[in-house]
Amino acid sequence: MGEYKIAVIQGDGIGPEVTQEAVNVLKAIGKKFQHNFTFEYPLAGGCAIDACGECLPKETLEICKQADSVMLGAVGGPKWDNVPNAQRPEKALLGLRAELELFSNLRPAKIYDALADACPLKAEIVEGGLDLLIVRELTGGIYFGERGYRQGKYGEEAYDVETYSEVEIKRILKNAFEVAMQRDKKVCCVDKANVLETSRLWRKVGEEMKNDYPQVELTYMYVDNAAMQLVRNPKQFDVMVTSNMFGDILSDEASMITGSIGLLPSASLGEGTFGMYEPIHGSAPDIAGQNKANPIAAILSVAMMLKYSFHLEKEAEAIETAVKTILEKGMRTPDIFSQGTNLLGTKEMGRAIADCI
Ligand code: IPM
Ligand code: MG
Repeated sequence: MGEYKIAVIQGDGIGPEVTQEAVNVLKAIGKKFQHNFTFEYPLAGGCAIDACGECLPKETLEICKQADSVMLGAVGGPKWDNVPNAQRPEKALLGLRAELELFSNLRPAKIYDALADACPLKAEIVEGGLDLLIVRELTGGIYFGERGYRQGKYGEEAYDVETYSEVEIKRILKNAFEVAMQRDKKVCCVDKANVLETSRLWRKVGEEMKNDYPQVELTYMYVDNAAMQLVRNPKQFDVMVTSNMFGDILSDEASMITGSIGLLPSASLGEGTFGMYEPIHGSAPDIAGQNKANPIAAILSVAMMLKYSFHLEKEAEAIETAVKTILEKGMRTPDIFSQGTNLLGTKEMGRAIADCI
């Protein structure tokens, strides 16, 4: 019996709908396994701009820091497109990652047997299933480097700087090695070491660390080649570890291989067990409030929370099994619907999974 306090940042667009279903699933887990989950709902993103004039209010950060974990829906939407850069809803996400020191972002891409048809690649390329994990560095690199405007050779120019320290590289590689130990024991470090100094430092640190993990095979791949290999032969990968920017790009590519971005969860972790969990998809303003969004990514995100923050493996597995079961029964939200399957709304899908638990 455990007590867990969770900050739920619902955010914008479909965020509130999908997080609601994830909360309901957690309640079902609490009932079945005798845990007490309590929820607080701080604001961040566009809705916080509307309510308090800033995308990441101090109070929200305080609530998150005092919680055992954070669940986030999605932030942003066209309504806030003309807000000045420093206060865009996306800044709330970057601020949360930085302030909560969540430097390690785990983005799994897995193909469910029941949804093998949704994969846009030829069947033989993903035959036997696909299960890869992108470990993205989340609080460094070009996202957080020096930026600005200055006078250059052709007049005014803008710049964004990529910086990585050995400490930042070491801690993310350590994470990659450790998760690989629980999986197929292969780490591919994706970089651009033929051009970038930061990438060469990543390789130097990798070479120094690999002896501490003799069971893990460490390889390196240039990012352009990796983008191509993900489409040519994605099954060659187990864990891919990479910088903030490359990880952003490759994780969208990897998610599409599984057929729908509406299925993929993510975890953002720091040194301890505290984490922030969110679906990979965005706020999808075009379908917001219509009971059309797929809540599975949000629901699988709380499964990751149970596993990584609370070490509740059995409970996490119960969620994963429930998702698999309802997919096998042919239940589908519009994004994964095909002829002969059973079309459900966001709420009905959430309820089906919670009931299955
Ligand atoms: C993501 C998103 C964010 C990122 C945006 C919204 C700032 O694309 O989480 O992948 O680039 O990290
Ligand atoms: Mg992205």
